[in-house]
Amino acid sequence: MTMLTITPDNAPDNVLLQTSDFDVIQRELAAIGIPMQRWSATAQLAPDADQATVLKAYEKSVAALSAKYDIRSVDVVAMHPAHEQALAARGKFLAEHTHDDFEIRFFVDGAGVFYIRKHGKVYQTLCTAGDLIELPADTTHWFDMGPKPFFKAIRLFTKPDGWVGKFTGDEIAKSFPEYTGAGV
Ligand SMILES: [Fe+2]
Repeated sequence: MTMLTITPDNAPDNVLLQTSDFDVIQRELAAIGIPMQRWSATAQLAPDADQATVLKAYEKSVAALSAKYDIRSVDVVAMHPAHEQALAARGKFLAEHTHDDFEIRFFVDGAGVFYIRKHGKVYQTLCTAGDLIELPADTTHWFDMGPKPFFKAIRLFTKPDGWVGKFTGDEIAKSFPEYTGAGV
């Protein structure tokens, strides 16, 4: 289940708000400039559906978003616990960073947590199947896919090389609870 937990950035145990009410999640994230919405597939997808099939099922939604952002490329990334790069993939964006491009992710399946830092607070956003989240360029955040990563996501890019992590060097992520894979 999609979940938002808001805490001060210097007090991870001080939960200011925790909710699975999507309307509230959407409102709280919109207030810090993060659009989030739900998409529905136009066709039933098999767990092993290939990239073309996944993109076809969300064609209209992707087209609408592509027009909004001048999207240059779209792909589908899939991660599962047995993937040989699973641990490396998890570790890659576990530290606080930004990107020059939007980080736009639609969760076709599975889950992951974006930790978004804004105005002295951290917004832990557990994204699950059906969630679209749009982090504008320069949004300070980190991402945890958990110890047994499992998700399939559509990624949309506005620049050919914009999605490179620029790490802040702040170790804040270490003081926050990791994503355990629970709560989906
Ligand atoms: Fe990122």
